[in-house]
Amino acid sequence: MHFLISTLICGWLMWSLPVQAEPTLAEKHACSSCHRFSPKDPVESHNAPDLFYAGNKFQPLWLKKFLQNPVVVRKAGVSTDPDFLQNSSTPAQPHPRLSKNEASAMGDYLMTLTLPDFSGNKVEKAPLTKGNHVRVKILFERNYGCIACHEGINLAGQARGGISGPSLANAGNRLSADWVYNWLKTPKKFIAKGRMPYFNLDDESAQKLTKYIMSLKIGDWN
Ligand code: HEC
Ligand code: HEC
Repeated sequence: MHFLISTLICGWLMWSLPVQAEPTLAEKHACSSCHRFSPKDPVESHNAPDLFYAGNKFQPLWLKKFLQNPVVVRKAGVSTDPDFLQNSSTPAQPHPRLSKNEASAMGDYLMTLTLPDFSGNKVEKAPLTKGNHVRVKILFERNYGCIACHEGINLAGQARGGISGPSLANAGNRLSADWVYNWLKTPKKFIAKGRMPYFNLDDESAQKLTKYIMSLKIGDWN
């Protein structure tokens, strides 16, 4: 009986005492001092890529690996940083490194951040045929000149290309195919003042370019 009463009292005490809230992971690593987690946050005071649509944009496995072992995606800095291409861009590294457990929890959280109006535009699942792959590579490199600003992959399997845009050399492991397609069709939805030229691609070209970008994979990712 005594045991029962003390258990009840203890239970009540534990329930009624305020629980010491752990600082959230995002606060601990000050993620929001650099990244925007909401479109309402001011652009000016943030010099890192927006994360409020991370759940639309990334593959969870890439996110979790990146958070443990950050890689440089934008060798020339972040395009929305006011210092971009002024030679004084804040270096992308050192980026905070998270433990495996923290990265997993943070990755899961980031995957919940999505745009309410992320469009239903979907990429066809079938990958490019070999012949089409060669043709779209020419579109990417010569016709549209995407390679002038983005790294792709050369025949030797190495990253090659310009660095004023984010590297696409590992896009097939990093980005979601539907997001790439939506980015190519409606970049304004994701970035108000982007630096990438608007190509006004028809659906078929956007589909093909997306499939090509998703075929770009580098390193030991699988
Ligand atoms: C000191 C500023 C700073 C802090 C703090 C910071 N980041 Fe970053 N983060 C950056 C920059 C700059 C990049 C771009 C790196 C690149 O592209 O090479 C980046 C890239 C990323 C990316 C990849 C985005 C993309 O589009 O490629 C993710 C995801 C990310 N950070 C998440 C986080 C999380 C989660 C935290 C907190 C645990 C955090 N960052 C803290 C500056 C920061
Ligand atoms: C003049 C340089 C330039 C050219 C040419 C260009 N881009 Fe971009 N691209 C950028 C920049 C800079 C960004 C980063 C966002 C911004 O500032 O608009 C970007 C962003 C992207 C992204 C999103 C990457 C990410 O991780 O956020 C994709 C995908 C992309 N471009 C594909 C293409 C394709 C496909 C072409 C050719 C049809 C192309 N780009 C041509 C500069 C360029």
